[in-house]
Amino acid sequence: MRAALAGLISLGFAVTAMSGGVAQTPNPVELKAPSAFASIGNSAARSRTLFSEAAKVFTSPRCMNCHPAGDRPTQANDRHPHEPLITRNQSCLTCHTDKNFTLTTDRGSYESIPGHQRWAVAPIEMAWQGKSIGEMCRQIKDPDRNGGRTLALLHEHVAHDDLVGWGWKPGQGREPAPGSQELLGQLIQAWIDSGAECP
Ligand code: HEC
Ligand code: HEC
Repeated sequence: MRAALAGLISLGFAVTAMSGGVAQTPNPVELKAPSAFASIGNSAARSRTLFSEAAKVFTSPRCMNCHPAGDRPTQANDRHPHEPLITRNQSCLTCHTDKNFTLTTDRGSYESIPGHQRWAVAPIEMAWQGKSIGEMCRQIKDPDRNGGRTLALLHEHVAHDDLVGWGWKPGQGREPAPGSQELLGQLIQAWIDSGAECP
């Protein structure tokens, strides 16, 4: 009896989640370093070009899916409405835990459930879906719509926030954002240094 019980317990412990060894293919979109634009002599023109380069990241599905214009986040590279139906007022943490969760059974369209301890939809004033790059730029640098951030704090968020950083560690079966968070931080710094002009 005791042996049988011990057997059951050890079986229970054998059922573990697979979270390490995540296979990810790099994003085919190349993100250029600020030095690639050094030859643009006019600083306002250079600034606009730097923002457009950084926007390759902002407009990627890894960022856009969480910055919807409506109440419902979107999913995957085709940005379809979130399944199951959930809206911005609901808690996300019942399904999205503090880290990416790799599925051990085949669910067809996805291989992992993304996770982070601050998983939440971006506030409506930070919505990016359906906006042009110029509109996104003006919104991102507007303290009334960017969470009250100065340009320095905006750079800090983009370059170091680990929820932003999830975009390059999005879990099994999901393509990361272009380039790296470090490179995005460099582009945003160079954009600020050249006057934070918008395309
Ligand atoms: C899980 C959802 C989620 C994902 C994924 C996500 N964001 Fe956000 N984002 C948020 C939330 C929530 C806020 C508001 C929190 C805050 O202001 O600190 C926010 C705020 C921001 C802000 C500051 C406000 C603004 O609009 O200027 C920036 C910049 C930003 N995100 C960039 C990114 C980038 C770049 C990516 C992709 C690499 C990304 N986010 C992916 C949820 C997300
Ligand atoms: C009932 C469970 C459940 C709830 C609640 C839930 N999600 Fe999800 N979510 C999932 C599953 C499962 C996936 C993976 C499916 C996929 O990526 O196609 C997912 C994927 C996502 C993705 C896709 C990431 C990407 O780049 O492809 C985003 C964004 C997302 N959820 C945001 C949210 C937000 C924000 C909330 C809270 C407002 C939330 N979810 C609440 C189950 C849920």
